Amino acid sequence: MKMELKNGGTNCQLLSKIATNNEHGENSPYFDGWKAYDNNPFHTTKNPNGVIQMGLAENQLSSELVEKWTKNNPKSSICSPEGIDAFKDMAIFQDYHGLPEFRNAVAKFMGKSRGGKVKFDPERIVMAGGATGANELLMFCLADPKDAFLIPTPYYPGFDRDLKWRTHVQLLPIVCESSNKFRITKEALEEAYMNAQKAKIKVKGLIITNPSNPLGTTMDKATLTALVTFINKKQIHLVCDEVYAGTVHSPNFTSISEVVQDMEDHCNHELIHVVYSLSKDMGLPGFRVGIVYSYNDTVVNIGRKMSSFGLVSSQTQHLLASMLSDEGFIDELILESKRRLASRHDLFTKGLEQVGIRCLESNAGLFCWMDLRTLLEEPTFEEEMKLWRVIINDVKLNVSPGSSFHCHEPGWFRVCFANMDDLTMEVALRRIRMFVEKGKEDSTEVIIVRKEKKAWQRRLGRLSLSTLMYDENILTTSQFSSPHMMSPHSPLVLART
Ligand SMILES: Cc1ncc(COP(=O)(O)O)c(C=O)c1O
Repeated sequence: MKMELKNGGTNCQLLSKIATNNEHGENSPYFDGWKAYDNNPFHTTKNPNGVIQMGLAENQLSSELVEKWTKNNPKSSICSPEGIDAFKDMAIFQDYHGLPEFRNAVAKFMGKSRGGKVKFDPERIVMAGGATGANELLMFCLADPKDAFLIPTPYYPGFDRDLKWRTHVQLLPIVCESSNKFRITKEALEEAYMNAQKAKIKVKGLIITNPSNPLGTTMDKATLTALVTFINKKQIHLVCDEVYAGTVHSPNFTSISEVVQDMEDHCNHELIHVVYSLSKDMGLPGFRVGIVYSYNDTVVNIGRKMSSFGLVSSQTQHLLASMLSDEGFIDELILESKRRLASRHDLFTKGLEQVGIRCLESNAGLFCWMDLRTLLEEPTFEEEMKLWRVIINDVKLNVSPGSSFHCHEPGWFRVCFANMDDLTMEVALRRIRMFVEKGKEDSTEVIIVRKEKKAWQRRLGRLSLSTLMYDENILTTSQFSSPHMMSPHSPLVLART
């Protein structure tokens, strides 16, 4: 008997449950924006009316500095005449501990990207395929199927895949609210823990992202200390995803490692684990360099063995060992990258403010958390989706709706600003300005002509007509579910960043 696969394939009986359970989360309607972008990508000269990609948390603002270093240091590449002598050694290297010079250089870089306030031990570094692989590896080490990790909302959508899909670990939300700038509260934390206990779910830990994706905010030392105290009391793990550590532009960043160092014997270090990668701070997501830094010797030991499934290639280790050891270059890169990110952040948020759009106050990350609650006719997720479709199809900006980050309040959107050049940013701001101004015009018109219907409702209603046509013509369900969409080039792979 043939069985229809939820993702559009057939004969799932031949495949495993993991292969057919759709729990990777990549079949969500949030494909729409990516598909719209893929079908009509913006280009300043070749396609100026295309969709601008603002759903991609990529740091491209300092790429040319890394490129320049690579060009000026050909000996670091085993594929250049200057570096070919190391080719054979690298080609046969397959040790899951990693090249010692690579681990040393990464440990040093982790210290530098956290403001030099804490030292990292190269012996505690475990390699993984990006932070994606690092997060999953940690789940395999710390939890069994059905065990749970608590997680503050809103959170990075990729966690549903990275932490849950293959491990069968559960994520239980700690609800954070806009009324206190989405900060985690003791009450919400205790409530999430209690709810799990009532449901007889074994909580193995708490996972936080600091700096936060999607908020772009950082946790202060007092909050981090309170979290360490909490997990100590409950004897559960604390996983800190710090992939955005080097994007903090003001004030200085406090890493969990600093807190652990300061608390000395007042916390059980074996419960603390840091996830890091070079994807965001160095702008190298394609290199797939992920790190688990655990204060637990057994996790380091087992993690190294598990890392066989997702090692960083020796060629990449070789190049990066050399680049990260060039301290003069790295110090300059970290400073310049922060300067460029801060300047882009200011340009973007000030541009939004000029048309009355506010973002959550933030000091890190490659994105802003934009507040469009006043543009919703009703505070519902249906209205959020409606507005989102207008933004993609009419304004032609691919931003990400808050619901995809498990936000509990409708009307928030994540907008990425570091994956484009200045000109594209200007066009994006101009489009937002025009959209808001048109909305205001409609509003005045409507008050005069027909008082009973609100402007935004009319606007959304009218625009959603074209959205429907767009959906029918371009974004049919079968396209979403075609196996082609699940290729490594699937926009959702990117959408998860
Ligand atoms: C919080 C967070 N963790 C992990 C990742 C995955 O990063 P990597 O590309 O290193 O796998 C991302 C990517 O966006 C992220 O935002």
